[in-house]
Amino acid sequence: MFKIAVLPGDGIGAEIVPEAVKVLEVVGKKFGHSFDFTEGLIGGAAIDAVGVPLPEDTLKLCKSSHAVLLGAIGGPKWDTLPVHLRPEAGALLPLRKALGLYANLRPATLYNSLLEASTLKKEVIEGIDIMVIRELTGGLYFGEKKREKTPEGQIAVDTLVYSTEEIKRIARLGFEIAMKRKKVLHSVDKANVLESSRLWRETVTEMSAEFPEVELIHMYVDNCAMQLVRWPKQFDVIVTENMFGDILTDQASMLTGSIGMLPSASLGGQVGLYEPSHGSAPDIAGQKKANPLATILSAAMMLRYAFDLSKEAQIIEDAVVKVLELGFRTPDIMKEGFKLVNTEEMGDRVAEQIGA
Ligand code: IPM
Ligand code: MG
Repeated sequence: MFKIAVLPGDGIGAEIVPEAVKVLEVVGKKFGHSFDFTEGLIGGAAIDAVGVPLPEDTLKLCKSSHAVLLGAIGGPKWDTLPVHLRPEAGALLPLRKALGLYANLRPATLYNSLLEASTLKKEVIEGIDIMVIRELTGGLYFGEKKREKTPEGQIAVDTLVYSTEEIKRIARLGFEIAMKRKKVLHSVDKANVLESSRLWRETVTEMSAEFPEVELIHMYVDNCAMQLVRWPKQFDVIVTENMFGDILTDQASMLTGSIGMLPSASLGGQVGLYEPSHGSAPDIAGQKKANPLATILSAAMMLRYAFDLSKEAQIIEDAVVKVLELGFRTPDIMKEGFKLVNTEEMGDRVAEQIGA
């Protein structure tokens, strides 16, 4: 039995997570696996119910599960709370830290049937398959922060810290994944300006001696942002620090048509966390407009990485391809001539493909 902690969170989280659970249930039934789902509170939903964004019970539930499936957190309702109570800084970041999830895998894969959904030209994006590995528990998001009053106003400080060890473990994963793919690794930094990036570059370069078959290419983050839209096919595996990865993965998602398509797996500790790369989209929450495919594909990543069920993972991924080929589209990827479906119907179509 696989124990899965289910944390729908806020906004569209409550709409997309049930679709991934639905798909997992169908997979379980078909292949004789039993998945045991237990729901927990996180983010704004937890603040409203119990006053804190990451309740002790939720943390306990995650730690005693085999994997965590998360929807999304945050929304305007909680944006004005003190930082430690806000869903982002008070729940998601501490959860990643508490579970030791230093590596975030965000694959940007273009589905052929979505060629038309991207705002970029067909010849630029055709065949895109990029794995971005984002360092997830270090850097600016976790460094010391402070405010000080000055006669003129205030100063605000965020600290950007990386240690050799932190860089080594994520770089190693980058090389290992590159070895299993095209053996080309782009390491993205800002070594022309930042000291932490200079340590990053030195450390990654040193490690490359252990992986002589992998071609290592260093790239500045600003150049990478430009190259990602100019000629994304030059990339296969990208490894980068926390904030650069946060930004570049939102950008990479648009190569694939919609951020609603981009799954993620956060690894490194005993229990992995699987969540779509997108946020809680308060603007469309409660309207059944959200695309559940990123979450469904995150569930596939869970099967592959947490439970070693690659065949089952592949079946979910194939079902998603099939449903897109059949022309079903949520509003974010809708184009004339296709069949518009809501969140729940999209989940049903995927489940149907698997059950068939
Ligand atoms: C993401 C999100 C989070 C992050 C926010 C909500 C804290 O943008 O998962 O990319 O920055 O990591
Ligand atoms: Mg982000």
